[in-house]
Amino acid sequence: MKKILVATGGGDCPGLNAVIRGIVKRASQEKDWEVWGSFEALNGLMEEPTRLIKLDDKTVAGIHVLGGTILGTTNKGNPMNYPERQPDGTFKTVNRIPWLVDRLKSKGFDAVINIGGDGSQAISQAMFEAGMPVVGVPKTIDNDLSSTDFTFGFQTAVQTASDSFDRLVTTAASHHRVMIMEVMGRNAGWIALYTAISGGAEICLIPEIPYDLDVLVERIKGRYNEGRGFVNIVIAEGAYAKEGTITASKGEFGRHSVRLGGVCFSLSQQLKDAGIEADIRETVLGHTQRGGTPIAFDRVIASVFGVKAMELVLAGKFGQLVILKNNDYTAVPIQEAISSYNVVDPHGTLVQAAKGLGISFGD
Ligand code: F6P
Repeated sequence: MKKILVATGGGDCPGLNAVIRGIVKRASQEKDWEVWGSFEALNGLMEEPTRLIKLDDKTVAGIHVLGGTILGTTNKGNPMNYPERQPDGTFKTVNRIPWLVDRLKSKGFDAVINIGGDGSQAISQAMFEAGMPVVGVPKTIDNDLSSTDFTFGFQTAVQTASDSFDRLVTTAASHHRVMIMEVMGRNAGWIALYTAISGGAEICLIPEIPYDLDVLVERIKGRYNEGRGFVNIVIAEGAYAKEGTITASKGEFGRHSVRLGGVCFSLSQQLKDAGIEADIRETVLGHTQRGGTPIAFDRVIASVFGVKAMELVLAGKFGQLVILKNNDYTAVPIQEAISSYNVVDPHGTLVQAAKGLGISFGD
């Protein structure tokens, strides 16, 4: 019997369970493959005693509709920088990849399918280079991976954000308020841009287009002067103001300092300081965007990714990451996939279309 280990690492994302189910269902059609899951990324394998679970058709029945991951996940315990206690009680970070690969082999594992974001895929690549047959499955609600058209979880996050946005529009209109809604996305504005187009926002602020506060103030005042007394703003957590247009430095709101809730309340204060007299209210959607059942589109991507990952294992094609490109499910070398990000093109079709719909980016 051959054994495969499956792990989910990094932040969770709607669709993880559908990937696990896809792997197990495809593997169960082969006579000679067993699938095992490691709890909380690869920590379940690294710990003694191990925390592993055998996965079969019954274990994964119906889990594709569930949010989260039945295996649990964590950002802690990265084997590339593992905190190891020293005899003097201090901690030193060590590279435990060679040890991990030996351990996988000594436990009888023939291959690993590692489901996770850029951090997890860097681990996949390191294990592969150390001699472990590995296939990666990309995961992020941020959709910021350039090798795939969409990552599963993104459309669910947009749906959640868009539903909340619709609710904010009616209360903004009733109270003649300015509503600011902050969404996730790390250093990419995809969730914000899709939500703004879907919801019909007046203003959309994304990290790829630093905003000018004066432009925002003019737009907001213009709306009130026209007698359309409410404004709905979507802001990505990584958005920041153009240097010199507000007193705070770019560093505080900049690309490398994404802080949940940070930009939403900062923008609110900036608008008040700039003389916006209307009531302003802030909503930080936070982790609601990562939770709950995946929408159908994400279930499809995730399920196909799971089947495809198992098929790569069966074909002996390792060091590969499954992707969706030009409507086709295929694979690229993990190394290639983790070296480039996909952010919104400020001059691209989507931003131009959003501008055509009257959405201001504050530029
Ligand atoms: O990368 C996914 C993501 O949800 C980002 O959009 C967000 O910045 C981050 O993870 C939040 O991570 P944490 O789990 O540490 O709160």
